[in-house]
Amino acid sequence: MTKYERISVAPISGALGAEIGGVDVAEELDDATIGEIRQALLDHLVIFFRGQNLPVARHKAFTRRFGDIFIHPNYQLGQEDKEMVYLLRQPGDTSVAGEKWHADTTMMETPPMGAILYALETPAHGGDTLFANQYLAYEALSDGMQGLLDGLNAVHSDIRVAGPQSDVNAKRSSKVRDDANWQPTVHAHPIVRVHPETGRKCLFVNSVYTMHIEGMTEAESAPILNFLYNHQCRPEFTCRFRWQPGSIAFWDNRSTLHLAIHDNFDCVRHMQRTQIAG
Ligand code: SIN
Repeated sequence: MTKYERISVAPISGALGAEIGGVDVAEELDDATIGEIRQALLDHLVIFFRGQNLPVARHKAFTRRFGDIFIHPNYQLGQEDKEMVYLLRQPGDTSVAGEKWHADTTMMETPPMGAILYALETPAHGGDTLFANQYLAYEALSDGMQGLLDGLNAVHSDIRVAGPQSDVNAKRSSKVRDDANWQPTVHAHPIVRVHPETGRKCLFVNSVYTMHIEGMTEAESAPILNFLYNHQCRPEFTCRFRWQPGSIAFWDNRSTLHLAIHDNFDCVRHMQRTQIAG
């Protein structure tokens, strides 16, 4: 177990997730503290901070301590600042961004390594976020299934979540590109990914972006992929985070899935998010 000297680290479930204490992320943090935060992310896959005050400039500055800011290709709707994504849920919305299990933006050639989500406004209850550990999901598979998946690639696309055919904008306040010039982004990735920092194997498919196994049709791939989609979010692989204004979730997008629970029907939930380039 890693020893932390500058931060406190309190796990919130047996599978993943830890609350970090003793740090104000809006401050200029020294390299040793950033190093411990990065280590906590690798150890716990998603880390949480409470009671933070993170104006846009400080949110970006904190993000840059972990890598370049990733520009989301589908959320650029005339907003001047392309580095920040706002996820807004308002009364009347019948859908929220991220309400199915997914890793972010996996249709990119190099998907982002992580995301830092900061709560501006949250409902009194509801609107929690779930996370799932994809190392555990891989390790719980039989030797036979691991052997079958090792070496296979899956094709990922954003065709279900952006563009005019996706029809998501009518249902929610967080809008994505749906103009006629929009084109899907499509790339293949290994189904079993070796994490570049920990060297551990994890599952890297999700039901939002993954379309089919490379070299197979969607129909041929479906039995295997549907099995994996059900398996990879088993309760014992998950944790659940309850938000308050000023909370932050920082997840490793390479080894986790997440899901925004859509259970707060007449409340406002307003989040500010950066992503870190892979
Ligand atoms: C996301 O999918 O990135 C958003 C998660 C959330 O709003 O809880």
